Formats: sequence, C-alpha cells, structure tokens
Amino acid sequence: MISVKNLSHSYNNDGILAINNISFDVAKGETFGFLGPSGSGKSTTQGILTGLLKQQTGKVSVAGYDTMKVQNERFNKIGVSFEQSNVYSKLTARENLKFYAKLFDVPTRDPDELIRLVGLEGKEKVRAGEFSKGMKHRLTFARSMINNPELWFLDEPTTGLDPTIAATIKDIIRERTASGTTCFLTTHNMYIADELCDRVAFIIDGEIVLIDTPKKLKLQYGQKLAEIEYFKDGKLITETLKTIDNADKSRIADIIKNYDVQTMHTKEATLEEIFIQVTGRGLA
Ligand SMILES: Nc1ncnc2c1ncn2[C@@H]1O[C@H](COP(=O)(O)OP(=O)(O)O)[C@@H](O)[C@H]1O
Ligand SMILES: [Mg+2]
Repeated sequence: MISVKNLSHSYNNDGILAINNISFDVAKGETFGFLGPSGSGKSTTQGILTGLLKQQTGKVSVAGYDTMKVQNERFNKIGVSFEQSNVYSKLTARENLKFYAKLFDVPTRDPDELIRLVGLEGKEKVRAGEFSKGMKHRLTFARSMINNPELWFLDEPTTGLDPTIAATIKDIIRERTASGTTCFLTTHNMYIADELCDRVAFIIDGEIVLIDTPKKLKLQYGQKLAEIEYFKDGKLITETLKTIDNADKSRIADIIKNYDVQTMHTKEATLEEIFIQVTGRGLA
C-alpha cells in the first residue's frame, strides 16, 4: 500500500536533512507506526506521502500511485488527519464535513453520523471557530473518514485529548483497521504505538533505526529485565536491572544477600525502554 525507497527531505535546501534516506513498506491492511521524539521527521514523512510537501528525492508509491506524478484520484483513496487541524472556522461542524465531502468523486459518509461517532453530537450547528482545540481535532479526525479511505494517515491521533476521548478515538481506529483499512500513524506516545500498531519504526534525527512488531521487540529486549523491590533503611526501593549484564547480575545477588527483598520479577520492557536501549534517547 505504501512503498518508500531512499527518501530524504531538506526544508530549505541547505543540506540539513529533516529525513535522511529512509526506506520502508506498509502492507495492505497493516497499521504501521512511526515512533520517535519531537523533531525526528515523522510529520515530514507524512507530509510527503500525502502530497502536502513536495517530494525531492527517492521513490515513493502510495495506494498504487507514484507520488512524483500528480494524480488527484489518489486522494479519493486516502484520509488524512493531522495535528494542526485546519477546519474552516466560519463553517459549522456539519458544513465543514459537507463541504469536504464534495471534494471527492467517491461515495461519502453521512456528516452527522461521523459527528456522533467522535462524540460531537449536539454540535452539528456550531461554528468550528468556537470549538476547543480538542474538538477541532475530533472534527478533523471525523473528516478524515468521510471518503471511507483505504489508506488512512493519522498524525499524533490522540495528543492533547482527554483520556476518555482518546479511548474513543483509539476504538474507532481499531475498528476501521480491523475491517481492512491500512493505517500509517505517527506518534511520540509509546502506548499508542504499542496498542494500535502491527509494526513500528523507530525514527530519530530523520533516520529509521529499526522496524519490527511490538511483540518481537519486547521478546528480544523485554525478558532481560528484572525489577526488584527491597527495604533499605526502612524505605522501599525499586531497581530495574538487566539479567544478562554482569555488573547487574552481581548487583541482583548483592541485593538478595543484603536486603529484605519484597518482590522480584522479570519485566516486559515498554516500547519506550526499548527505544532508549536502541537509540540512547528518550521519546519526550
Ligand atoms: N516548515 C519547516 N521548515 C523548516 N524546518 C522544518 C519545518 N517543519 C519541520 N522542520 C524541521 O524538520 C525536522 C523534522 O520535523 P518534523 O517532521 O515535524 O518532526 P516530528 O513530526 O517527528 O516532530 C525538525 O528538525 C524540524 O525542526
Ligand atoms: Mg509531528
């Protein structure tokens, strides 16, 4: 569904690369996540794939179309929900969706149904300009589904939303991807990546450092951690140690010998811990 080969991008043609020679493929029906800290090149990549940014190098195909060529019919197949929501302030929620629906040459969904789906029922006739940031975000998200896209681009889909609404958005994503929609999502939130993605790419400083399934990553990196809780001077201390590291192994033995151990178990690493192990940097 997406094929990217040797893609780079420099915003000001000054040799500074926002993305540097990245390659990856996304299969039909797959939910593929770009996980990386702020500024790592996630939105830039999505911008090129969705045609918002002009492609400079490399070979990219999206939904069967070569992105170097302008082929507007490809927009019928894709849905885009980006962080900077650009809904029309002067139009109501319903008018926004109706207006957008007209841009497509394919059957579109009922605006009111989508408004309900994202929890904005009752706001159909309210101008988007009066919406909070989170409500605009939800309207943009609803809009991204109006043409029943085969391929769905989501940039930080739950960032800035309150937890209940974030859960609703995640459910909608799960439901659509389970019914066959291909999804390319970017996030700096490891929980989203872990919960929703079939595969994740770790991206840092414009480069992809690895691509794998969350499950394989956790098997590879996860079983090698032990978390120990023990009392020291009346205080409960928690230490996470690597069971394959010699210094950590003696530290574990040392704790068992000298302290009152309360709990000790091997621990599944979170994607964030794995990210730090692999890249030496955090996701913040
Ligand atoms: N419009 C722009 N002009 C110049 N530099 C930009 C622009 N947008 C992003 N960048 C730079 O490109 C790099 C990647 O940014 P971005 O793709 O937005 O990262 P992310 O989405 O991972 O936070 C950053 O160093 C950022 O400062
Ligand atoms: Mg971004």
